[in-house]
Amino acid sequence: MIRAAVLAGIGAALPSRSVSNDELAETLDTNDAWIRTRTGIRTRHWTDTGTNTGDLATAAGARALKSAGVDSADLVILATSTGNQPMPGTAPEVATALGLGNVAAYDVSAACSGFLYALSAAAGAIAACVAERVLVIGADVWSTRLNPQDRSTTIIFGDGAGAAVLRAGNGDEPGALLGFDLGSDGIGHELAQVAGGGSRERGSGRPPNPEDAYMTMQGKEMFTHAVNRMAASSEQLLERIGWGAADVDWCAAHQANIRILHTVADVLGVDRSRMLVHLDKAGNTSAASIPLALTDAAKSGQIKAGDRVLMTAFGGGLSWASTAMRWPELDVMEISTDI
Ligand code: COA
Repeated sequence: MIRAAVLAGIGAALPSRSVSNDELAETLDTNDAWIRTRTGIRTRHWTDTGTNTGDLATAAGARALKSAGVDSADLVILATSTGNQPMPGTAPEVATALGLGNVAAYDVSAACSGFLYALSAAAGAIAACVAERVLVIGADVWSTRLNPQDRSTTIIFGDGAGAAVLRAGNGDEPGALLGFDLGSDGIGHELAQVAGGGSRERGSGRPPNPEDAYMTMQGKEMFTHAVNRMAASSEQLLERIGWGAADVDWCAAHQANIRILHTVADVLGVDRSRMLVHLDKAGNTSAASIPLALTDAAKSGQIKAGDRVLMTAFGGGLSWASTAMRWPELDVMEISTDI
């Protein structure tokens, strides 16, 4: 029998600095009512100078380990597109900061789908007996890559980190990841991107443009792809694991926009009230959004042991991913906001 990856702990962290819609409206041509009605976002958290992605990842990872009641893991996978620096990856620093010793540690770059991609890598490592216990973290600090004059990105993105501990177990245990659906479409790679800083820049023949260090996004196109891909991927996954829409107690979808969450629910035939919503408090936190939403819902008692939870994500790349589990009995800490 294939060894399953079983959720043993979860935790999350947000920077202490909260940035309201009104604060953004002081410098951008926007307003609280537009942001709330068009996105569902009320506030987001941005790091202050001196706090990096690794710091947030470490804080979330520490909480997940505590939630699991353990102080070791033999593999750390960090999903991020905004690591501390372009090279090396940030995961080894995080593993060291957590006191995990010389364990295997690497980054996964799959934008807002990164956490679910990292879960699939962890499940593979456990199935192949590469690891017994894996710490998976999704962390992003997009605030350093937002063009302060671009209202279409600045209002949406927040910084944050969320983490999960997976242990080797059986597929019929609560918390076992029941399967995955993963996909990508490179034709759409320009729809959400940081154009500069990579090997493509040199090949363009143009001098580097400082504005290419910022993230740009074609919001309308991303909206449509997000709905279509998350709905289709969820349907594939549900069919594979033998669940119908009515079996889904909670759907933790990537927290991009409340209108996206509602449309995905409508397409899937899942009641809108079953969509976990955390974006009002943190915006779109990219690779961190799903573990943040899960931590928030588990801590508040919204998700209970035994509930059937569908997770689905979409992001730059383009990339998408879905997985599901029955929620296990977990001891969950509040989301940290003291970083
Ligand atoms: N504040 C005020 N007005 C704004 C605004 C803002 N921040 N952004 C756009 N507008 C205006 C536009 O100028 C436009 O005005 P007009 O009708 O007079 O031309 C109007 O609002 C509608 O603009 P539009 O770009 O169509 O907005 P939208 O409803 O598509 O919302 C996003 C924009 C970015 C919020 C939305 O497209 C979105 O969430 N996209 C998905 C992002 C995503 O899924 N990412 C996933 C991976 S990270």
